[in-house]
Amino acid sequence: MENAIKITKPESYFVSLMGKIPILSYYSHSRGWSFLITWGHRLSGLTLVFYMFAHLYTLSLLFQPEKFDADMQFLNNFLFTFLEWCVAIPVIFHALNGGRLILYEMFHVRAEEMIIRLMVIIGIIYIAIVGFFFIEESRQISAIVFWSITVIISLVAFFIVFFKLWSTGNSLMWKLQRITGGFMFLMLIGHMLFMHMNYLAGHDSKTILLRMQSPFIKGVDLIFILFLLFHAGYGMFSIATDYLRPGPVLKSLTFLIIVAMLVSAFFGIRLVAAL
Ligand code: HEM
Repeated sequence: MENAIKITKPESYFVSLMGKIPILSYYSHSRGWSFLITWGHRLSGLTLVFYMFAHLYTLSLLFQPEKFDADMQFLNNFLFTFLEWCVAIPVIFHALNGGRLILYEMFHVRAEEMIIRLMVIIGIIYIAIVGFFFIEESRQISAIVFWSITVIISLVAFFIVFFKLWSTGNSLMWKLQRITGGFMFLMLIGHMLFMHMNYLAGHDSKTILLRMQSPFIKGVDLIFILFLLFHAGYGMFSIATDYLRPGPVLKSLTFLIIVAMLVSAFFGIRLVAAL
C-alpha cells in the first residue's frame, strides 16, 4: 500500500507486548485490532458511566462538608490514589478514540494508523502527566483562568462539530451525541488534570465550595453535567439497541436509563445551584 506508514521498532515492540495479553492476543488475531478498539470504546464509556454515578454520590456529600472531608481522608491512601489514577486510562482512551471517530465523521479522512499512533503517544503522555500530578500535587492555577481557556477551546470544538454534522441525515440524538462529545473532549481531559494538579482543588470541601461560589464556575459545571448525562444516557441506549430487539425489554431498559439520567440531572443541578 502506498500510504501505509512505517511501523517503528518501539511501536512493533509495544504491539507485540500488547499481543502477549491473552485476551488481546486472541481477539487481535481472530477479529483484528479495530474490533478491540471498538470494544475498548464501549467498555471505557461504560466504566466512565459507573464512575460518574460514584462521583455524583461523593460530591453530594459536600452538603455535609465534615463528612466529605472525612471520606476524602479515608480514601487518601496508596490503593485508592492508585485506582483514581487508573481512571485516567478510560478517560483518555475514550476521549481520543471518540475524537478520532468524530473527526472521521466530519471530514471522512481515514488516516487510521497515523491517528492511532498519535492517540497512543498523547494517551501515554496524558496518563504520565496525571500520574506526575498525583505525586507532585501542589501546582497552583487560577480556576477562572484554567476554565476560561478550556471552555473557549471546547466551544470552538462544539461549533465545528455542530456546523459539520448538523446538516447530515443522521438522527438528532446521534448528532447531539457527537456535538456533546466534541464539547466534552477537552473539558473532561482538563477536569481530571485540574482536580489533581493540586490535592486541595478536588479533595478539600472548603476549596471546592469557595470555587463553586463563582457564577462562571457554576455555569460551566451545569453545562458539563447536562452534556455528560445526555451523552452517557444516549451511549447506554445505543449499546442496548445493539443487543436487544425492539420490544418490552428494550422499552423498559430505555425507561430505566432515562430515569437514571433524570435523577442524576436533578441531583447534579441541585448540587451546583445550592452550594
Ligand atoms: C471526552 C469526551 C468524549 C468524547 C469525544 C466521546 C465520544 C463518543 C463517541 C463519538 C461515541 C459514539 C461511538 C459510536 O457510536 O461508535 C461515544 C459513545 C459513548 N460514550 Fe462517549 N465521549 C466522551 C465522553 C464520554 C463520557 C465522559 C462518558 C461517560 C460518562 C461517555 C460514555 C459513552 C458511552 C456509554 C458510549 C456508547 C459506546 C458504544 O456505543 O459503544 N463518553 N462517545
